[in-house]
Amino acid sequence: MIIGKFPALRLRRSRKESWSRRLIQENSLSPNDFILPIFLIEGSNKRQLISSMPGVYRYTINRLSQIIDRAIRKKIPMVALFPKTKNSLKDELGTESLNEKNLVCRGIQEIKKRYKNQIGIMCDVALDPYTTHGHDGLLRSNTILNDETIEVLINQSLLQAEMGCDVIAPSDMMDGRIGRIRKALDKNKFHNVQILSYAAKYASSFYGPFRDAVGSKSSLKGNKKTYQMDYRNSNEALREVALDIKEGADMVMVKPGMPYLDVIKSIKDKFKLPVFAYQVSGEYSLIETAIAKKLINKDAIYESLVSFKRAGANAIVTYYADRLDKILI
Ligand code: PBG
Repeated sequence: MIIGKFPALRLRRSRKESWSRRLIQENSLSPNDFILPIFLIEGSNKRQLISSMPGVYRYTINRLSQIIDRAIRKKIPMVALFPKTKNSLKDELGTESLNEKNLVCRGIQEIKKRYKNQIGIMCDVALDPYTTHGHDGLLRSNTILNDETIEVLINQSLLQAEMGCDVIAPSDMMDGRIGRIRKALDKNKFHNVQILSYAAKYASSFYGPFRDAVGSKSSLKGNKKTYQMDYRNSNEALREVALDIKEGADMVMVKPGMPYLDVIKSIKDKFKLPVFAYQVSGEYSLIETAIAKKLINKDAIYESLVSFKRAGANAIVTYYADRLDKILI
């Protein structure tokens, strides 16, 4: 409802001075709003630049403290671990996902050993970093199998929970996996391990640089349209979220971020649960490249992040999380 009329009402009056603009601001960013993704690689003493994501690196396990120290200093509540698995360890079934010595498992253990509960750890549950075909599930005669994949995802979740992962984040989009994973976690005394469901994950072109970062780009056969959502749909996202809440999700993710602000808003309005947004690799690299070319200025980063808050997101997964110098600690 809009009340008032020009000239008695002049909205520019309250925009005139900086102090006044600060007083009437509706949204702001704090360190609590961010989750930092971290890429892991084999080897030792390496920090490797990801060519498709300027300013983002992959870390070996023994260099992890460099980035975790930084995240803690910046008061970021949680990091998300992603592995770049060696090609020689990938197979059709994604077997490496169940190896307790895989990169993610070692990463979790290293962080928990050094930092206890100073920072939360979230891990993706999906097979794409581990399969030769680059898909999130098991592939048989050109079909991604749903129920068979869930059995593997349950074991992947249990393994990550056992290693000390705080938040299990299924990003695979198989039907029914949240309920099965919740049940398995509870049965194994992991009732305090949280589930963040990538409930509304779209088959998107904006994941390109990430697939390069985890090394699944060249191997990906076909596309992910038979399990990730069609970008033309939004009601369907509400159905996905409703199902995941019933199955036991504590929080849900919308992904990508900026092209889907409407989806974030309608989920928040309807379900009132914690909703997270993933500002994905393609969004990051677009902004970074435009800044480098001086097409836009750095404030565009803050503008993009505040848009998620306006839409109702509780937190944002972003590759900028540890480099936001203008955010008050
Ligand atoms: C895999 C996964 C993807 C991302 C996070 N987890 C890519 C995909 O689904 O192909 C993308 C993140 C990004 O682009 O930053 N399940």
